[in-house]
Amino acid sequence: MKSTFLVVALQLGLALPLLAVDSFPDVAQLPAQAALPDPLVMTNGQRVTNQREWFRQRRPELKALFQHYMYGTLPPKPKDMHFSVDRVDKNFFAGKATAKEITISLGNTPAAPKIQLLLVIPNAHHTTALITADPSGAGALRGPGPTATAAPAMPTTFPVFLGLNFSGNHALVTDTNIALPVTWMPKASPGCVDNHATDAGRGTQVESWAIEQSIDRGYAVATFYYGDVEPDRPDAKEGIRAQLKLTNEMGAIAAWAWGLSRAVDYLVTDKDINPRRIAVVGHSRNGKAAALAAAFDDRIALAIPLQAGCGGTSPSRGKTGESVRNINERFPHWFNGEFKKFNDEPERLPFDQNCLVALIAPRPVLFSCATEDAWSNPAGQFEVLQAADPVYRLLDAGGLDARQMPETSTLSVSRLTYYIRPGKHSMTKHDWKVFLDFADQQMTGAIPFTR
Ligand code: GCU
Repeated sequence: MKSTFLVVALQLGLALPLLAVDSFPDVAQLPAQAALPDPLVMTNGQRVTNQREWFRQRRPELKALFQHYMYGTLPPKPKDMHFSVDRVDKNFFAGKATAKEITISLGNTPAAPKIQLLLVIPNAHHTTALITADPSGAGALRGPGPTATAAPAMPTTFPVFLGLNFSGNHALVTDTNIALPVTWMPKASPGCVDNHATDAGRGTQVESWAIEQSIDRGYAVATFYYGDVEPDRPDAKEGIRAQLKLTNEMGAIAAWAWGLSRAVDYLVTDKDINPRRIAVVGHSRNGKAAALAAAFDDRIALAIPLQAGCGGTSPSRGKTGESVRNINERFPHWFNGEFKKFNDEPERLPFDQNCLVALIAPRPVLFSCATEDAWSNPAGQFEVLQAADPVYRLLDAGGLDARQMPETSTLSVSRLTYYIRPGKHSMTKHDWKVFLDFADQQMTGAIPFTR
């Protein structure tokens, strides 16, 4: 829908009341802005000067803009969604952990998509042994505040990393009991035959996820195959987007983010999980989804989008790395129809990805990059964090302390953190070590989500 009044106001910088959620100018009428837009300047040109204006006005406005012009609208959770805990193995990783396999049915009909969630939780006796052995090393177990010096308490709930995986839960561990995904899978996935997972894929991504390392550091890990929610192809009819028959188109990135929130719906009910310490993590396209999920779901306490690049953590503006046109042409199903109108003029976007990070404020965010991953524009990702920083400062949440891109392999933690390692586009055990170090420092206390 057009609003001539809004267009004129945008061009003149007039003071306007809040942007009505359904009144959006055509793309051609949006003013071009070469620099990353200031998240603290509202569509009506007014500057946000206090926390209340941020939470009451600008944040809802940005959420509406992102949904309209880029990701599509994220629907509420289905009323008839339900969970079933299908299998519990208390002797996972030779007794260090408990594995649960949970089905999250996204509706009551036989065709409704189902998330097969794998949740691996440290066993309390294992983590107690860890604290006793090294009270300073098991950061997640210390709880809020300074390092505990008294006798360690038996942890009762655990922080959790939640992330989408590319090739099925069975690929992340060697245990042969883990269920194979049943939905369509891209041919290149390890062990994939006729676009479906087979036993040949088991254990092929153990190193990328390094789940046992997280268990040893006192964190649970929850994960599911991203295609459970929405198959990664343009013509999918069996995914949530077709099933929900949405009037306002949701792209696949938003569908995956929405799926992460459905997993959070389950996690907050699990008695072994600390509902205030749910971190999302994701690599590449799944990192784009992780960032969006954290921006829209306030229950997520911390976000780590890894090498997420265009449409996630790097600027849509500029000429470095993947462009808006590149991503829309190669993956037409990832974003909505409006986003394609920015192919040749990304500078007309009324936001950039710094505004997505700002939606996560005051919660901690780590951007993790790799030097050879030019496609995801590592330098641009640093600029995105810099341009999100003012919102964190407004919320008294710290921000990005680094003044320039850190040296490779140097983790210097602040509420917004940038890390870059040598190497290629991939997720590694080393990356997970950095995630754990970041979470140890940033997810130790309840981070109040002030409004
Ligand atoms: C492609 C795509 C990227 C994406 C990546 C991935 O390279 O262009 O935007 O991040 O795939 O998901 O691995």
